[in-house]
Amino acid sequence: MELTSIVDGTSAQIADAGDLEALDALERSSIGKKGELTLKKKELGSLEPDARKAAGQALNEAMRALSDRFAERRSELAAAAEATRLASERLDLTEALTEIRRGHAHLVTQARDRLEDVFVGMGFTVAEGPEVESAWYNFEALNIPEWHPARGSFDTIFVDLGEPEQVMLRSHTSPVQIRTMENQKPPIYIVAPGRTFRTDTADATHLPAFNQIEGLVVDRGIGLGDLAGTIESFVHAFFGHEVKTRLRPSYFPFTEPSAEFDISTADGGWLELGGCGVVHPNVLANCGIDPEEWQGFAFGFGIDRLAVMRYQLDDIRELVNNDVRFLRQF
Ligand code: PHE
Repeated sequence: MELTSIVDGTSAQIADAGDLEALDALERSSIGKKGELTLKKKELGSLEPDARKAAGQALNEAMRALSDRFAERRSELAAAAEATRLASERLDLTEALTEIRRGHAHLVTQARDRLEDVFVGMGFTVAEGPEVESAWYNFEALNIPEWHPARGSFDTIFVDLGEPEQVMLRSHTSPVQIRTMENQKPPIYIVAPGRTFRTDTADATHLPAFNQIEGLVVDRGIGLGDLAGTIESFVHAFFGHEVKTRLRPSYFPFTEPSAEFDISTADGGWLELGGCGVVHPNVLANCGIDPEEWQGFAFGFGIDRLAVMRYQLDDIRELVNNDVRFLRQF
């Protein structure tokens, strides 16, 4: 029958339609408003009523069947198009996956951990203090009264709290000396690592927020020789046995005598690492420790600078730029 062959032929064309455009065109030309089958409906008028009814039903069925096929094919093509799109937009994440690494401690933290290990190995314990301090701990108890010129050299960042210039971000870790001696009876062997702050502008060798480690020993019969020996032992343990140390006379209000200590460099020069000295009797007395019975030494130096020396960095700011390409190397 003519209708059957039209349906079969159109069905085959539907199955062959390679994209939605071709399918739409085919739909228009078969069952669309001016399509072949739609036009056939108009021919029904010329038939006898009985024949018209039968032919009308057959035509409607044929159109419904074709319409179903169009719908099926349309969803097939849409699924295929979606699959193609997904395939083209697919990101190869396997590379990223192998790139995901476990992070590791920042190199300053590594340096701090190693320093702690070295000193703990020498019999020290680790102490801590607050980053916001009062003038008593940051200065006065350390034998730096208000009028003392050394107070200016600390470039202190004050906190707007209480009386002017009485609360500050600690400008060194030395206040932990005071806090420890207030709470602990000698003998005392502590190191106190932590963050410290000064009004310095960041440049290749300065950071306004940096890290120091403080050392404090209070015991009987302690002198400059113990200080020099301790510094040498730690430098050997940290930098290696080929590195030499030396003390150069200096001045700090809280130690007497005071010194700056240097380490030797590969090219025969010296690098300044930090300050140190024999604890000033006033400082011991400020903490209720009898300077006649007890003596001590203290030292303090920058951990960030130590990391810069150890890894021979060109610029200390690398430590805080948070560039993972830099950080990963350590
Ligand atoms: N607190 C001193 C500074 O930051 C360093 C120091 C510590 C000196 C202990 C002597 C004794 O410059």
